[in-house]
Amino acid sequence: MEKLVSSEIEAYAERHSMSESAICRALREETQRTVEYPQMVVGPLEGAFLKMMTQLVGAKRVLEIGMSTGYSALCFAEALPDDGTVITCEINEQSAAVARRYFAQASCGNKISIRMGPALDTMRTLTGPFDLIFIDADKTNYLNYYRRSLDLLAPDGVILIDNVLWSGEVLKQPPPDESTAAIQELNRTVAADPRVSSVLVTIRDGILVIRRTG
Ligand SMILES: C[S@@+](CC[C@H](N)C(=O)[O-])C[C@H]1O[C@@H](n2cnc3c(N)ncnc32)[C@H](O)[C@@H]1O
Repeated sequence: MEKLVSSEIEAYAERHSMSESAICRALREETQRTVEYPQMVVGPLEGAFLKMMTQLVGAKRVLEIGMSTGYSALCFAEALPDDGTVITCEINEQSAAVARRYFAQASCGNKISIRMGPALDTMRTLTGPFDLIFIDADKTNYLNYYRRSLDLLAPDGVILIDNVLWSGEVLKQPPPDESTAAIQELNRTVAADPRVSSVLVTIRDGILVIRRTG
């Protein structure tokens, strides 16, 4: 992933945002040492943003599409009230094994429930409403995840979609690959959808923040 914001500015923003918990830091460091694409996890600044959104929405039920080693799921769990829950979807057993180990150690880990298997299949089995839905898995399914999320979203809920700037590749025409094309189509669809209002926030790799209109 290419950095769209300079490392100095990102570090400054991190230092002036709520700090990462000790367990999130340990998980991030292990992920960096052991996983092939460690930049997949959102990291401290976006993690702080996810926590802030959870609190602003007053979320009790969070759905995450794409857990990896569990960094963002832990951020949600830390920000939720004691009776809050995170359902998180993942397809990769190796990543899930790391996540399970950290969730077992975390005081808020009992709020997180992992659903293994293709996320679209899992989403078909779930019943809403969810207060916050975070989409961060395979990009070619982003539009499908968005459509199903609208069915599962609480009336005042928020959908967050990660990597919508895709290292700046979204500016390229024609799109260089399937993932870029899928993200471009998602961004066009959300911007033109009269059922929602949205803002594309330029934190890290771009986050689309979406709520229902009216
Ligand atoms: C970008 S990572 C998620 C990072 C995580 N949200 C974090 O910040 O800590 C995307 C994850 O989605 C998972 N994934 C990809 N396709 C999937 C699918 N069809 N269903 C469920 N998970 C999927 C991948 O295995 C990967 O671990």
